[in-house]
Amino acid sequence: MNFSSRTDLTIHSGLNDIFKTKDSQTISFAGGLPDNSLFPSEELAKSYNSVITGGDSTVFQYTGKQMPELREKISSKMNDYGVNATADDVLLTQGAQQALSLAAQLLIDKGDGLVVEGPTYIGALAAFDAVEPTFYEVPIEQDGMNIKVLEHILKHHEVKMIYTIPDFQNPTGTVMSVEKRKAMVKLANRYDVMIVEDAAYRDLRFTGTQLPTIKQFDTEDRVIYVGSFSKILAPAMRLGWLVAAPEVRGDLEALKSSADVETSSLTMNAVNDYLEHHDINQHIEEIKTVYCHKKNLMYQALTENMPKDVKFNNPEGGFFIWLELPEKFDMDQFLDDYLLPVANVTLVPSKNLFTSKSIHNGARLNFTQPTNEQIRDGISRLGSALTEYFSTVLV
Ligand SMILES: Cc1ncc(COP(=O)(O)O)c(C=O)c1O
Repeated sequence: MNFSSRTDLTIHSGLNDIFKTKDSQTISFAGGLPDNSLFPSEELAKSYNSVITGGDSTVFQYTGKQMPELREKISSKMNDYGVNATADDVLLTQGAQQALSLAAQLLIDKGDGLVVEGPTYIGALAAFDAVEPTFYEVPIEQDGMNIKVLEHILKHHEVKMIYTIPDFQNPTGTVMSVEKRKAMVKLANRYDVMIVEDAAYRDLRFTGTQLPTIKQFDTEDRVIYVGSFSKILAPAMRLGWLVAAPEVRGDLEALKSSADVETSSLTMNAVNDYLEHHDINQHIEEIKTVYCHKKNLMYQALTENMPKDVKFNNPEGGFFIWLELPEKFDMDQFLDDYLLPVANVTLVPSKNLFTSKSIHNGARLNFTQPTNEQIRDGISRLGSALTEYFSTVLV
């Protein structure tokens, strides 16, 4: 078939290979999924039920507008983050994913410069591929993007957009320092660039102090802030939001309606009802307790089971631990030839998380979805598999 080149790029992003499994016994550290047992199912069922049976049939109708009460609640959450936003500043989206896609459509013509972190969220790369940018990759350090490299790129290339995940980055779990957040805004002002701040994991801080958003330092309306209910409520709601200056938001809203007409009235009403009757912050505290415990379990298991030369971090929140092997190690090959077929464990190898596709020695491990037992068992199997692979296959 004669498909567009955009399609080809997006299809080969590697996004669809993430969920490789062998059989139902596979222990997967691959998905970026919440723990199934933590969804507030009964509360959400009540909210949906009350919306559906409440006698207002307009909830089934096109609405022509984004629900003001829900946007009000989100703007008050943004105020808690120190971002000065009113309900009007919030645009509801089909998950954070749609916000990323809309931002790229708004800012990027074919070939325009787009800065991403290396490694970054594979779904963002897939969304950005559709607008055929020229990618520039900035390495992630323990405290976020390498700002010197960013500055060098901005100085020498035409860049329209910087995409960053400052809080518990996907896939490395790192947090950008306050200094770097401020420096990034300064650079964006100097080089006339927009920043897309993807805060999908922001609420999931287990330890340490919450840092200000990049949006908080935005002096020239250059930051598009992106949030999501996927990790704190349920991905199935497909509900996210963005906060941006009025002229940016207006155009993003027009692009959104050309993509999907509008956000589902049923979803907006149900989430609004949930937020009215339940304390979401209390729910977030509960899921954080479980996730922190799982992260500690995984970190402990890694400490006990990884051969020397394998590095891993101990993130303060989010969904992921990042694993790094010696430079020559090929994680894709290890996964395909050994880890999955022999140990029946899977993870996300680093290659497709870099635009350059040239870094093969890393992997993302998800600790939120597997059970405690799977974490202990899976990391022990990963450790044995690596030890055997080092001593037999790689010798
Ligand atoms: C960093 C990041 N941004 C955005 C998304 C998409 O989230 P949503 O379900 O809100 O579309 C994800 C999902 O894993 C993510 O990890």
